[in-house]
Amino acid sequence: MRTPLIAGNWKMHLAPTEARKYAIRLRVRLADVRGRDILVFPPFTALPAVIEELGRSGIACGGQNLHWEKQGAFTGEISAPFLADLGCSHVLVGHSERRHIFGETDEDCGRKTRAALDAGLTPILCVGETLEQREADATRQVIERQLAAGLKPVQEDEKFVLAYEPVWAIGTGRTASPEQADEVHRHIRAWLGSRFTPDLAARVRILYGGSVKPENVDDLMKLPDLDGVLVGGAALNADSFDRIVRFLP
Ligand code: 13P
Repeated sequence: MRTPLIAGNWKMHLAPTEARKYAIRLRVRLADVRGRDILVFPPFTALPAVIEELGRSGIACGGQNLHWEKQGAFTGEISAPFLADLGCSHVLVGHSERRHIFGETDEDCGRKTRAALDAGLTPILCVGETLEQREADATRQVIERQLAAGLKPVQEDEKFVLAYEPVWAIGTGRTASPEQADEVHRHIRAWLGSRFTPDLAARVRILYGGSVKPENVDDLMKLPDLDGVLVGGAALNADSFDRIVRFLP
């Protein structure tokens, strides 16, 4: 009932010219894929070129970040209506690099989730613990706090996606084991059931991110509460992204 969602976060890679070429490659290579939603997050400056090339390919496009105000004196920021105007359908909220490098707070995430929904975008709220927090046995507590704040302004009938990205697994080559991912994904779904309703919990897609590769995607995608992946490094290579999209059920 939950269509698998495979998303590539290009982070600060691919200038518009390279991004356009890469989008064309993906469009051609992935044209025959059915039954899976595909989504890419290029840098802001590459969005127009990528959206133009992906056209009606069925591959959707999103922003990596947003500001919660619609417009105003916020030098360097991009708002949700700007992303929607370009043709974005999704936006990442609270990626760990935003939280840890740029100091985004849980409250900022809640404002961003609300702004995304108000502009008609689907937010993908990212949550995840650091290694220190995991070792201190605080994983559940950290994730619950991030979920509670990031989803605070969200109503039952609104559409959103979650991504569990353990910070210690991002860009490190160290993936969460299927057991570790399974435990957290189950916990997130149970939390959704109590914060919202069992109906909503059954409907929301929960992605995993952190060193997802062609070699580990099949095992991850077998987990019942894991509905897709948010891929960083391996999304920058057409061969590996193609293989990840074609994970074996
Ligand atoms: P890597 O796949 O490079 O570990 O990055 C994961 C990530 O942060 C996706 O948003």
